[in-house]
Amino acid sequence: MSSVRVEKLYKRFGHVEAVKGISFEVKEGEFTVLLGPSGCGKTTTLRCIAGLEQPDSGHIYFDDEDVTPLSPAARNIAFVFQLYALYPHLTAYDNIAFPLRAEGLPKQEISQRVGEAVRLLQIEDILHLKPRKLTSGQKQRVALARAIVRRPRVFLLDEPLSNIDAKLREVTRAELKKLQKSLKATTIYVTHDQVEAMTMADKIVVMNFGDIQQIGSPHEVYHYPANLFVARFIGSPGMNFIPGSVEERNGRLGVVVDGAYFTPPWQRSRKLP
Ligand SMILES: Nc1ncnc2c1ncn2[C@@H]1O[C@H](COP(=O)(O)OP(=O)(O)OP(=O)(O)O)[C@@H](O)[C@H]1O
Ligand SMILES: [Mg+2]
Repeated sequence: MSSVRVEKLYKRFGHVEAVKGISFEVKEGEFTVLLGPSGCGKTTTLRCIAGLEQPDSGHIYFDDEDVTPLSPAARNIAFVFQLYALYPHLTAYDNIAFPLRAEGLPKQEISQRVGEAVRLLQIEDILHLKPRKLTSGQKQRVALARAIVRRPRVFLLDEPLSNIDAKLREVTRAELKKLQKSLKATTIYVTHDQVEAMTMADKIVVMNFGDIQQIGSPHEVYHYPANLFVARFIGSPGMNFIPGSVEERNGRLGVVVDGAYFTPPWQRSRKLP
C-alpha cells in the first residue's frame, strides 16, 4: 500500500472550476473521507487521483512518486463506483477474476486470490450467479472483491453504499471499515453523508465549492469546526446560529447578542493581557 499526496490540484470544466487548487495527504493504511455537498468536487478529485481525469495543474504523488503523467492502469489503483459496474454477462466469480485474467496471471494464483477475497466478504455461495440474480448488497460485495483481488496501491471508493437500503448500509459500513483495517488499505472514500464520514474515517477532508474547508479527525471537525460551513454541515441535528459580536469589557472577552452581554464560562476567570 502507498501513501497519497495531492498537491495544489486544479481542474476546470469549461467555465466551472470543479477543484480549486486543493492539497491534502493520506497516510499509508489511512481511511480518508472526502465529504461535502453535491457538486463540491469530490468525484473530480477522486478521478484525478485515479488518472481518469487529467488535472489542469497540480500533482498527485503515491509515496514519493509523481504519478500525474501515468495512465490509470499504470497507477495500480482499485476504483469502486456507486453503480458497481459489474459485467452483466459474467458470473460473480468471473467478474471478480476479470482483472487478474486481464493481467495474465496463472489460473492457480487467480483461484487462490479470488478465494481469499470471497472468504473475507462472505460471498462463497453466490459465485455462480450473474449480476441480475444478485441483491444490491451482494453486487456491492462482488465489486469490492474485484477491487481487493488486484492488491492495489490505493483503494478509491465513490459513494459505494448509496444504492444499498438503509438497514444493510449500516451493516456494510461496519464491515467495510473492518475489512479496510484488516487489509491496512490506504483508502479514499467519497460521500456526501456525514454519518458515513463520522463513523468510518480516520481523517475527513470537508469540501465545498471545489475548496477544502477543513481537514481533521471526526472528533476535530465535530467539536472544533473551522468555519460556519463545517459547523452547519457536520452534526445531526445541526448546530444553531445566533448573530452576535465579540466585545471586550473590563478586560474580558464576551459576546453581545441583542444588546445583552455574555461572558463564556471559560473566559470568566481569565483577564486579557
Ligand atoms: N465531465 C464534466 N463536464 C462538465 N462539468 C463537470 C464534469 N464533471 C464534473 N463537472 C462539474 O464539476 C463540479 C464538481 O463535480 P463533481 O462530480 O466532482 O462533484 P461531487 O462532489 O462528486 O458531487 P456529487 O455529490 O453530486 O457526486 C460540478 O459543478 C459538476 O457539474
Ligand atoms: Mg460525485
